[in-house]
Amino acid sequence: MTKVAKIELEGQTHEFPIIEGSEGEKAIDISKLRGTTGHITLDNGFANTGSCRSAITFLNGEQGILRYRGYPIEQLSERSRFMEVSYLLGYGELPNTIQLKNYERKVANLATLPHGICKMLDHFPKNAHPMGVASSVTSALSSFYPDLLNPNLSDEDIDRCMAQMLAQTKIIISYFYRRTQGLDPIGSNPELGYAADFLNMMFAGGDYVTDPEISKALDVLLILHADHEQNCSASTVRVVGSSLANVFASVSGGINALWGQLHGGANQAVLEMLNEIKDGGGDHKKYIQKAKDKNDSFRLMGFGHRVYKSFDPRAKIIKGACDTILTRLGVKDPLLDIAKGLEEEALRDEYFKSRNLYPNVDFYSGIIYQALGIPTNMFTAMFVLGRIPGWLAQWKEMRTSDFTKIARPRQIYTGYTQREFIDLSNRN
Ligand code: CMC
Repeated sequence: MTKVAKIELEGQTHEFPIIEGSEGEKAIDISKLRGTTGHITLDNGFANTGSCRSAITFLNGEQGILRYRGYPIEQLSERSRFMEVSYLLGYGELPNTIQLKNYERKVANLATLPHGICKMLDHFPKNAHPMGVASSVTSALSSFYPDLLNPNLSDEDIDRCMAQMLAQTKIIISYFYRRTQGLDPIGSNPELGYAADFLNMMFAGGDYVTDPEISKALDVLLILHADHEQNCSASTVRVVGSSLANVFASVSGGINALWGQLHGGANQAVLEMLNEIKDGGGDHKKYIQKAKDKNDSFRLMGFGHRVYKSFDPRAKIIKGACDTILTRLGVKDPLLDIAKGLEEEALRDEYFKSRNLYPNVDFYSGIIYQALGIPTNMFTAMFVLGRIPGWLAQWKEMRTSDFTKIARPRQIYTGYTQREFIDLSNRN
């Protein structure tokens, strides 16, 4: 028997089906609410609104659980590689050896950029923000693949979109970085593996040598960022794609959504905050007070999460990786001590405890990126590199699901009611 929720409105009772997910999460299906009652729901920031049914990522914020296709993030980050995780997100199952090889080959064969895109990258100012560059160039890719603009893509075309964007994002980010350094671009060498190839494309030259441990650490970071269910950028990808806009436009929208400080842009903001604390003499307590002060707009960047209310499992893994990488590279970064001090202080403080504010994925990731030699304004582009498979899996699921409708929320209008037009000559 279908379970129902009853809503009483103006003396009448209306019934709505209750939907249950595979992990026991429950939702009231209000798709027919307006049609039957004339009411809509109002949900600031969509905090209580399910926008889709999805079989990709499960997240339980109370218990700090994150799983891709059922596999715990702890196991994936320890025992798999980013390319396996990309395949898992896109196709629903872990690949066997042959499937993985074929997938890697497919991505490798698509690892080039059209000449026009390289020219475009050559003309951005060197101090342009990499996120603006990445979103513009991703959108511009649509001009070079008219066959992928068709709203009714075949399964084969969808596969190609996913492999191609995975391959090309790596080139876009590293190409632009080398340009900012006055260096010629370096072609992809997929034999190295995704993360090592990316690092090589960024830093090869001089005395640079690939370090497998460092590549592995970056691979783990990419896995941790690969998907996070219906966050701001994934939802943007789905919203843009729901109008049947092409995959490049959809992902470009996701990149722009990620850029903001409250989302992926937090990793850059964390490092800037830690540097500010260091330059100001290292007094992190002052910043805890600022974050608590309701008259101050300052927030402790890298702290808090819309969904995680105990801890962010990604942050736990990254904190461990941070120590390992800094030790491996022989880097003694005072920012790490400041970050640890801030975390300890905040976790003791009633303001943060009562609001369930814990370090999130962005709190320690910037310290690792900095140790790898990645400039601060590129941190969020590194998040893009990791998140591409997640966005593409969300886009594919949205495109292939019968449940998808064009995203079109309603509103409660609070402006003027109808009034009479006043001619220009009669206005004060
Ligand atoms: N520093 C100080 N106070 C905070 C913080 C913070 N970082 N985050 C939330 N609060 C307070 C907030 O002021 C509010 O207090 P009160 O109840 O007294 O008004 C309460 O906690 C709830 O905050 P909210 O803004 O209603 O929560 P939200 O779910 O809308 O926002 C958030 C979530 C991540 C935007 C927010 O915690 C934040 O701004 N954090 C800093 C930015 C950041 O690190 N973002 C990265 C998120 S993880 C990466 C990703 O996946 O995007």
